[in-house]
Parts: sequence; C-alpha cells; structure tokens
Amino acid sequence: MAIRKIREMGDPVLEKKCKEVKEITPRTQELIDDMFETLYEAQGVGLAAPQVGILKRIVVIDVTGEDPMLLINPKIMETSGEQTGYEGCLSVPGKSGMVTRPNYVKVLAYDENLQPFELEGTELLARALCHELEHLDGHLYVEKVDGPLVNTADLAESEEA
Ligand code: NI
Repeated sequence: MAIRKIREMGDPVLEKKCKEVKEITPRTQELIDDMFETLYEAQGVGLAAPQVGILKRIVVIDVTGEDPMLLINPKIMETSGEQTGYEGCLSVPGKSGMVTRPNYVKVLAYDENLQPFELEGTELLARALCHELEHLDGHLYVEKVDGPLVNTADLAESEEA
C-alpha cells in the first residue's frame, strides 16, 4: 500500500467525468487500498479516485474513523430533507464553505466483488456521499457554497472530504 498525492483544486483531473469500473483487477484493488490509506493519513471523511488522479468511479468514505465504506459505480437513488453546514474537501485544503445538502440519501453501489448493495445515510454520511459522488462527475463543493470560503482552522469543528 502507498499514500498517493492528493490533487488540489485547479488540477484538470478534478474537472473530468470518471469512467465506470467494469472489472476489479489487481491494479484496481491496489488503488482501493491506497485510497483508504491516503484517506486515513489525511484524516478526511471521504476520498474519490479523481482526487488521487484516477478517473474511475470509486469512492471511499469513513465518517467515524472505524467504519470504512467502499463504493464502486455509486448512484444516488433517493434523497430527502435538508441540512446546511460547513463542508471541506481534501482537494481544497484548509478551507470550508457553507453548503446545503439533503439530510438523507440512499445510494446504490457495488462492492469489491462488483456485487450491488444499497446504503442509506443521514447527516454527515449523507453529506459525504453527495460530496464524493459529485467528484466522480468533475464537480467540487465550492460550486455550491453559499457565502465566502473560510479558514477551516477558524471553525469549531469541520470535516474534509
Ligand atoms: Ni472532496
């Protein structure tokens, strides 16, 4: 396993649409392992493959630090409610912005054996799912920020994805 370099806003790889994963090769498995290691090293809550420069529809999320989730080819099936709060991104280091997201999302995704499963999330997990899935289509949360970006260090609590 290896820690990969996290690409930052302005890198064109973050603005591209990712390709569906059709088979899990040893390289894909290595990418997934590296994404988890990179996520934990950066102390983020989520990481999408384009953030390490790979245009594949793969996301890793862990909102508690003890609950690793892998989502391959994920799609949002259902959303409801609303939450507004500060959001950050490992590709926009040190900054946060106010973003409104659904408070509940249901996602269909595939596991490391390409078997489908459904995942429901509320609050931070719902926010992380929306945020990471947008990375797969070349979008960053800064497009949705209401108000200025602020320094994360000035906030009482914050998360980066
Ligand atoms: Ni992000």
